[in-house]
Amino acid sequence: MSYKINKNKHLNAYWMPFTPNRAFKEKPRLYKSAKGLYYQTTDGRQVLDAISGLWCSNLGHCHPKITEAIQKQAAKLDYSTAFNFGHEDAFQLANILVDQFPKSLGHVFFTNSGSEAVDTALKIALAYHQVNGEKSRTRLIGRVKGYHGVGFGGVSVGGMSNNRKYFGNLLSDVDHLPFPYNENENAFTRGEPEENPMHYLNELEQIIKTHGAKTIAGVIVEPVIGSAGMFVPPKGYLKKLRQITKKHGILLIFDEVITAFGRLGTANAATYFDVIPDMCTIAKGLNNGAVPMGAVVVSKQIYDCFIDGTKEGVELFHGYTYSAHPLAVASGLASQKIYKEESIYDRVKNNVKYFEDGMHNLMDSPHITDIRNIGLAGGLTIACRDNKVGARAYDLFLKAYELGIGIRANGDTIVIAPILTSSKKELDPIFDILEQALKKIK
Ligand SMILES: Cc1ncc(COP(=O)(O)O)c(C=O)c1O
Repeated sequence: MSYKINKNKHLNAYWMPFTPNRAFKEKPRLYKSAKGLYYQTTDGRQVLDAISGLWCSNLGHCHPKITEAIQKQAAKLDYSTAFNFGHEDAFQLANILVDQFPKSLGHVFFTNSGSEAVDTALKIALAYHQVNGEKSRTRLIGRVKGYHGVGFGGVSVGGMSNNRKYFGNLLSDVDHLPFPYNENENAFTRGEPEENPMHYLNELEQIIKTHGAKTIAGVIVEPVIGSAGMFVPPKGYLKKLRQITKKHGILLIFDEVITAFGRLGTANAATYFDVIPDMCTIAKGLNNGAVPMGAVVVSKQIYDCFIDGTKEGVELFHGYTYSAHPLAVASGLASQKIYKEESIYDRVKNNVKYFEDGMHNLMDSPHITDIRNIGLAGGLTIACRDNKVGARAYDLFLKAYELGIGIRANGDTIVIAPILTSSKKELDPIFDILEQALKKIK
């Protein structure tokens, strides 16, 4: 039986993503404007954004310098194709970006989202081995509960079951490493758990044995797991992963869509964990989410292989109409300038301990079974109610919104990712409201 939404009919045409459309359209939550740390709702309330838009508005909403850069660019060069043409600012932004990544990563391929960045990186990994003469390397490896966007490539290597189960015809020849977190062992850890990382990486050795290293093109992981509920892998996990992949000629891709540009108090997770992957996917904080944009930061070795390995013509048959879109680039340049001039990464570092304490002080609140944190990112696990996965966490999300903060629920987890410019005092309402909301829900 089809369910007709009769209330708020004007909301019907828009099919909202990752949203229970029926419930939303019965009782909508509509933002009309935003400034700094706050959204204004259409019903006249102010909501503190405790998830930085969606991990993207790192510098606060409607930052005047970013707004101005977009406005000026729109009046100067609204669009320019990236196929066989370029505009100076795109090259400048690429230079600024590579300067912030480990030295061996020297090139940037622009996309319009994190999902496109992931699919681009996976395609580059596959094509690299073809160009490099190792044509049998076609297998890709992701991780259980990994989130790499919603393209077919990203969903195939991703491991969130709801995102996969309706879309049967995914990429074949994909394996998934175990989820590198054990709540029984590690609940309420501050930062990186002390567990032996090989508990989760022996499986990689096994996959390599089973299929042969020469069949594997690349491994992709989120250095810090975001969408599944903010989980931090054990100490040494990424270093060990790098050692194993390097030894076997397997490319390592860090999906840095949420970790790049300050979330951990560094330019990226590769720097934070002191591990150098072959590619990093980036988006979101790259340009403060002000215009859709993503990118892949690629090693010099991979780029050179394409340039040297193809004698003439196009080296990579891939790209988007809106790659390096002038408005996205303008907001990227403005955002990168702010990160630097306002020492945003250092400001994050100064607030990490305060944020950690605030999160972990929720330990004795009702329903909490785990709390995790790293940088300015925190995750809570909420006890499942009546075997209905996600029901209580969703109630918490609704209650928190009613009380004045925007957070994100996924399954039985809640994610907090404050705007990076928040002062300590501005973080307090997040903890206070979470505490109140936890007491109010059933
Ligand atoms: C790690 C990671 N990769 C990829 C994506 C997809 O990005 P987008 O929604 O811009 O396509 C996300 C989005 O949250 C993400 O967290």
